[in-house]
Amino acid sequence: VTRGAEVAAAARRVVKVELGERAYEIIVERGLLERCGRLIAEAVPGADRFVIITNTAVGRLYGPKITAGLRAAGFDVSTIEVPAGERYKSLTRADKIYGRLLEMGVDRQAVIVALGGGVIGDLAGFVAGTYMRGVPFVQIPTSLLAQVDSSVGGKTAVNHRLAKNVIGVFNQPRLVLIDPEALRTLPSRELRAGLSEIIKYGFIGGEPLLSKIRSLLPLRRDLDGFPSIIVDCCRFKAQIVVEDELDTGRRAILNYGHTIGHALEAVSSYRQYNHGEAIAVGMLGAAKIAQAAGMLDQAAVDDHRNLLKAAGLPLTIKDVDPMVIYRHLELDKKRARGRNRLVLLDGIGRPVIREVEGPPIIGAIEGLAEV
Ligand code: NAD
Ligand code: GLY
Repeated sequence: VTRGAEVAAAARRVVKVELGERAYEIIVERGLLERCGRLIAEAVPGADRFVIITNTAVGRLYGPKITAGLRAAGFDVSTIEVPAGERYKSLTRADKIYGRLLEMGVDRQAVIVALGGGVIGDLAGFVAGTYMRGVPFVQIPTSLLAQVDSSVGGKTAVNHRLAKNVIGVFNQPRLVLIDPEALRTLPSRELRAGLSEIIKYGFIGGEPLLSKIRSLLPLRRDLDGFPSIIVDCCRFKAQIVVEDELDTGRRAILNYGHTIGHALEAVSSYRQYNHGEAIAVGMLGAAKIAQAAGMLDQAAVDDHRNLLKAAGLPLTIKDVDPMVIYRHLELDKKRARGRNRLVLLDGIGRPVIREVEGPPIIGAIEGLAEV
């Protein structure tokens, strides 16, 4: 073992997702992508072939490293590239990938490696869960959002033209490999989107995570604070996933800020706000609703505003009529044949799920609108 490898191993942190026979490890380590071939191979004993699914941007940056690592370990590696963008998280694109896999003669001895942000993780995970009734897959998330959220927990899906993420399967990966060094090439706007999910964990998890997040802000690009925060977020999410893998109860708290956030994303056609930006606005909305219900005080609402602002995230709804957002929520409610169930904070760090009537929601959305 070289001295370099020893130092690297000391900096390696592992979070276990204890899901019995579907248990897996999340490994967080700077520079991991340079040396992950054997780890990927060991995660699926008996595999002889690896298919990397990535997008053109991430593939160009990191594909060769993963390919070289696997080839050095003696494995056959191929790559399927998808154009970058949420609109490729579709059944049409999944169908194209199935076609490529069949043409390449890929069978169930192969492993799919999802290399990219949440779009690629969700799409490749869905393909892995459905191709030949399921082949194993490994997540290598490269965006901050994917490193702290989407690569963990086994939710995989594609979008339908009528709604996001509605065609999918629960499919846990065999391994999640996180290299915070990959964040160096991530555009700043995407870094902030990931921060929004991190702040979400802070509000629902409370202290000491929240103080640690504050110490990251204002954001620097040196990345030094990130590995430890990524580990904390993955650990937090892993615990909740273990409690409620199939999302029938407590897992819903991970959707803090997502009710108004999703509606805002949808009505602005997923263009004006990315996911992280929309849930930042959504969290502030949820805080206002909780304040109206006497669950949060003004200081807690100000805390939302200040933290999100320090992270460079938007706090207002621009160029969208608040009632259009509300009507979208009503539509969702009708689809679910239920009421608007929101994750609210009964104090920072104490998420609860509450049914909320229209007027306080409308009041909060109107309060967010930029005049
Ligand atoms: P994304 O996958 O579109 O990535 C954002 C952009 O960053 C893309 O253009 C991508 O090419 C680029 N990129 C990624 N890593 C890079 C790197 N290291 N260097 C340079 N560029 C890089 O978006 P995202 O925010 O990662 O993920 C959003 C998706 O995740 C949404 O589809 C959302 O529904 C899904 N999601 C899923 C879950 C889940 O539990 N499965 C949770 C949250 C979000
Ligand atoms: N992103 C929410 C969840 O994984 O449940």
